[in-house]
Order: sequence, then structure tokens, then C-alpha cells
Amino acid sequence: MHTHFPADRLLQHPTPCYYYDTALLDATLAEIDRCTRGEPHWHVHYAIKANANPAILRRIARAGLGADCVSGGEIEAAIAAGIPATRIVYAGVGKSDREIDLALRHSIACFNVESLEELQVINERAASLGTIAPVAFRINPNVDACTHAKITTGLSENKFGIDLGDTERAIRTAHSLAHIRYEGLHFHIGSQILTDAPFRRLCHRINELQERLERQGIRTPGINVGGGLGISYEHPDDESIPRFEPYFDTFRRHLALRPGQQLHFELGRSVVGQCGTLIARVLYVKQGTTRRFLILDAGMTELVRPAMYGARHAVQRIALPTDATPAADAPRCTYDVVGPVCESSDVFVKDQPLPPCRRGDLIAIRSAGAYGESMASTYNLRPLPPTIVQ
Ligand code: LLP
Repeated sequence: MHTHFPADRLLQHPTPCYYYDTALLDATLAEIDRCTRGEPHWHVHYAIKANANPAILRRIARAGLGADCVSGGEIEAAIAAGIPATRIVYAGVGKSDREIDLALRHSIACFNVESLEELQVINERAASLGTIAPVAFRINPNVDACTHAKITTGLSENKFGIDLGDTERAIRTAHSLAHIRYEGLHFHIGSQILTDAPFRRLCHRINELQERLERQGIRTPGINVGGGLGISYEHPDDESIPRFEPYFDTFRRHLALRPGQQLHFELGRSVVGQCGTLIARVLYVKQGTTRRFLILDAGMTELVRPAMYGARHAVQRIALPTDATPAADAPRCTYDVVGPVCESSDVFVKDQPLPPCRRGDLIAIRSAGAYGESMASTYNLRPLPPTIVQ
């Protein structure tokens, strides 16, 4: 599916802004539904951290997905968008007392617990509210996701989760606490994973662990395999819908679920990544001594991924009704595409070939629907970007 940018309308709109293609979002949600429909025990939770725009969340809620939240604010956003609390799971290494109480009052489906210290606090808070907290333990499976070091989470050196070897102790403690109900095991190995192998290794690790637990008489109601499916940043139009079918098949084939056991997914980037574009205007075309810079009105404050992870997003000039030559026929220039923020890392891409650009031209920075708007900041006292949900 190709995203079409309405140049006339965008020219009237203040930039920088986020533009969301809801037809693509809906097609992506339909594909997730198609791939999971025949599985009554499967539950897909959308990882809200990827994009919490209320209009996007409402569409995701309408499609029937649950939510994976990592803060009290995200729990409130999920509920406001119409996601029932019974489909909300709540993770995070540092849940505050206030956030735990909020989750308990809403009776969310499950806390993904990351330490025994946290388990004790949840038990105390549940006792004081006269309720029982459903918990899954986030286990660190020590599986290398083989992606960017800053988004790999399943290795034992990361701060996330409980050590694989401590699983039994955690479950026994849960069984001994009056206000805790053991619901299952949770895993998440990392993000932007484009090959099958890390997910296969995760399945095998879970299978071994389940057998080990069963030998000790421990039964596990549910397994949560986290998120992590990647998207194509190189070809946002040709691969606008991520490859959900092989992803879900990997779990169907390699994960040995027990009869009646529930399986949870927490997909973020793959749900919303391709439907969002950061729209910027060219402020200046600056000829330096060795480089030619395209200085945009958008920068790392609107999209931090290039500066933070060295991520590369496709950068395109949006064709304008006044263009003399169609973009495909225009000669190409090479630009370093940069933002206005006072940091030398505020660079989207270097040596980018583009049709010749002038002040006022519109630039699309693609595949920015996930971890774009949600990570925007007001650094340099810049305002947060407005959005167009089309
Ligand atoms: N579940 C847990 C426990 C997570 O920590 C994450 C993401 C997800 C699910 C969703 O993962 P996804 O399906 O989106 O890969 N800001 C970084 C990505 C950080 C991911 C954090 N955790 C980026 O822009 O690449």
C-alpha cells in the first residue's frame, strides 16, 4: 500500500507535524486479525509506548486489541481509548506505589513483575486495597535479539526481568502470598527483529523452562512472548504491512502450549510504524564548504531515533502541484538532511539523494509512526508537534 500525501492540504498546515494514514493502520490491524483469528487462546496487546495518540489508540481499541502499558499514564490512556481493563497488562522495572494502586483499582488483567522486591510491594498494596493482584513474572531468557544494543532487552546484562534460574523461587513466593495470583510467565527479547531465529530461540527456551517447571509440579496458566517484530525502514511503501504471517507461524510451530494455556503478544512498532510520517518544511538549503545541508523545521525533538540509535528513515521530497518536472524525472542532488536543534547529532541522514529542494518544500520522513511522536520532546523549548489523522 502506498501512502499518498495530500500536498495541497499539507502546504496549508503548520509544520513540523505527524501525518497518520488510517487506511494503512486499519489494513495492518485487519492483517493481524486474519493471522490470529483461528486461535481462541491468543491475545494481542498493543504496546502503547510506540504511539499513544488518542485517535490511533481508539482505532486500535475498536479492532479489539488489548494494551501493554508501562506506566499509570499509559493505563489511563488505554482505558480512555476504550480498551477494557481486562485486556491490559502492565510491565516496567520501576512501578511506583501510586501506579500499582491505579492498576489494582482498575482491575487490570495482569502485572508483569520484574523483581521479587516489586512482588512484595504489589502484595502489600493489594492487601491494603482488599484485592488480589494477578501477576506474571518477566523472565530474562538470555536470548540475543541481534538488533541494536540499545533495544536489546533479553540478555542477562540488561536491567529487565528476573533471572531464568530464579523462576521457581519467584513462583513459589507468589503462591505463598495471600494477595497474589500467579498468572504466568512473560518474556521480551528486544525490538526491530526481522528474522525468525531469535523468536525460535525464545520458543525453545520457554519450552525447556515449562518442562522444568512441570517436573516440579508447577502449572503456568499463560505465556506472554512480548513484542519485537520489525518493519522495513528502507521500503515503507513496498513493505507497508509487516510480515505477521511468518511471525505468528513461528510461535504456532515452535512454542509447545499446554491445553487451555493462553498466549499473549505485545506488538508495538509493527502495528503503527508504517502508518506515521513526520512532515517537515525546508527552512534553508545551505551550501557549506564540503557539504550541502537541507535544514528542516523538524529535528531530533520530533523524531529522536536517528540521533539516539543511528536509525535510518527514508526521506522523500513530497511532490507539489507547482512542480515543473515530475519528481521521478528531476535531476538528483545530494544533501545532509538536518534539523534545527542545537546538537550536532541532530541529523536525519547524510548524503541523501533528492530532487533539487528549495525553501518551503515539504519533506516526508517515513516509518515514523512508532517511537516518533511518543518520544518527542520540548528540548530547546520547541512545541510538541501537531498531528493530522487522515
Ligand atoms: N513489550 C515490552 C516489555 C517492551 O519493552 C516493548 C518495547 C514491547 C513489548 C514492544 O516492542 P515492539 O513490538 O515495539 O518492538 N524506542 C525504541 C524501541 C524501544 C522498545 C522498548 N520496548 C526505538 O525507537 O527503536
